[in-house]
Amino acid sequence: MDKPEFATVTLSDTAADGAMPVIAGTDGPMAIDVRNLYADQGLLTFDPGFRSTASCQSAITYIDGEAGILRYRGYPIEELAERCTFTEVAHLLMVGELPDAQQKQAFEREVDFHNLLHDQVINFFRGFRRDAHPMAVMVGVVGALSAFYQEHQDYNDPAQRWKAAIRLFAKMPTIAANSFTYSIGRPLRYPDNTLDYASNFMQMMFGKPSELYRVDPVLARALDRILLLHADHEQNASTSTVRMAASSGANPFACIASGIATLWGPAHGGANEAVLNMLEEIAVPENIPAAIRRAKDRKDPFRLMGFGHRVYKNFDPRAHLIRDTAREVLAHLGLENDPLMAVAIELERIALSDDYFISRKLYPNVDFYSGILLKAMGLPSRMFTAVFAVARTAGWVSHWLELKHGGDHGIDRPRQVYTGKTLRHLP
Ligand code: CMC
Repeated sequence: MDKPEFATVTLSDTAADGAMPVIAGTDGPMAIDVRNLYADQGLLTFDPGFRSTASCQSAITYIDGEAGILRYRGYPIEELAERCTFTEVAHLLMVGELPDAQQKQAFEREVDFHNLLHDQVINFFRGFRRDAHPMAVMVGVVGALSAFYQEHQDYNDPAQRWKAAIRLFAKMPTIAANSFTYSIGRPLRYPDNTLDYASNFMQMMFGKPSELYRVDPVLARALDRILLLHADHEQNASTSTVRMAASSGANPFACIASGIATLWGPAHGGANEAVLNMLEEIAVPENIPAAIRRAKDRKDPFRLMGFGHRVYKNFDPRAHLIRDTAREVLAHLGLENDPLMAVAIELERIALSDDYFISRKLYPNVDFYSGILLKAMGLPSRMFTAVFAVARTAGWVSHWLELKHGGDHGIDRPRQVYTGKTLRHLP
């Protein structure tokens, strides 16, 4: 194909020839439909990092990053966090509506039915090094589930799709908790179906066979809120990975394993662990100015973990909610004077009044406070991203269901701008 002669292209909505349609959603910016651009005009669009690209149409989650708005299926996150439980919100994401009392009971019964792991799955845990990172174990074990349930792999059948989604949602806390207990040498735990989702997750992480574990309702409610706030976030890196894997028709357990792998990175879900490591390194408020100096130095790769977001350029609404919960939990546990919290609050204050952060719209994100909260609840930092993965499974399976239910546009296959050698021949 000949190279075009122009160096720039101006979009014009009046062009009669080659005009591209504009797609409007129910909320948010419109999108230029460039699907036929290459076929019609031999041009590609260039958007590494997808800053201006809508990869799909989705009816699950809406974000307005400028206004600090997050809604699941139309409901503001603040209302859901105040009035709903995580399983109700998971139902909302997966099914499209909040459940009534009967639907809630049926959904929770289904989750309880599927939360056990096949006994052979236990062998996979034993294959890991004893000090393996829980996220490494989760990627492996969830991927390994692809080898189970051979009789239910017709994902064109809505009933089989639903079963795979529920299995993933139900088993994830069992897998995450056992990734933790395995890494500290405790026996693997079974779910207890007398407990709600968050309490059950807690007893599997913290319970010991030698003593009765009593779930602290304040901590269980806090964990439930963490799960709810992390449940979905539209086309973030891990969800996009899940959708891309699913676009090839891959097994859903393998798709979710690819989401877990993507979530692990410190720029994404791994940030909560990185925030805590950073706060522990800073240790006292006197060390904050040096950390800020490093974060602002372009030659230094150090960043203020828990600050900034690709989409939120005003504030992250989840950060406000989780900060309130962190304060409640610290007060409940008598840790109001927790030194890490003191460093976090001072860091937030200094960063928010510094021109570098203000001009770049770098605000604390959800992970800034979730690390402190999870630490106060007794979780080691290596488990933080695993908790995020449990929460995000609700979103991942909802996107997988949406894609499989009429949202499938064929395999995702981005193109590239080639910058390598032009044709040459062997000597
Ligand atoms: N500390 C210091 N400088 C920063 C930070 C930070 N945390 N984040 C961005 N910047 C600077 C960046 O250096 C750049 O400066 P300049 O214009 O001088 O080159 C400018 O701000 C724009 O940054 P960017 O890299 O273009 O922003 P992005 O949208 O690509 O990155 C981000 C978003 C979240 C990856 C990034 O802000 C970051 O690495 N933050 C720390 C990690 C973190 O907290 N991640 C959790 C995100 S929330 C949980 C989730 O949804 O997964």
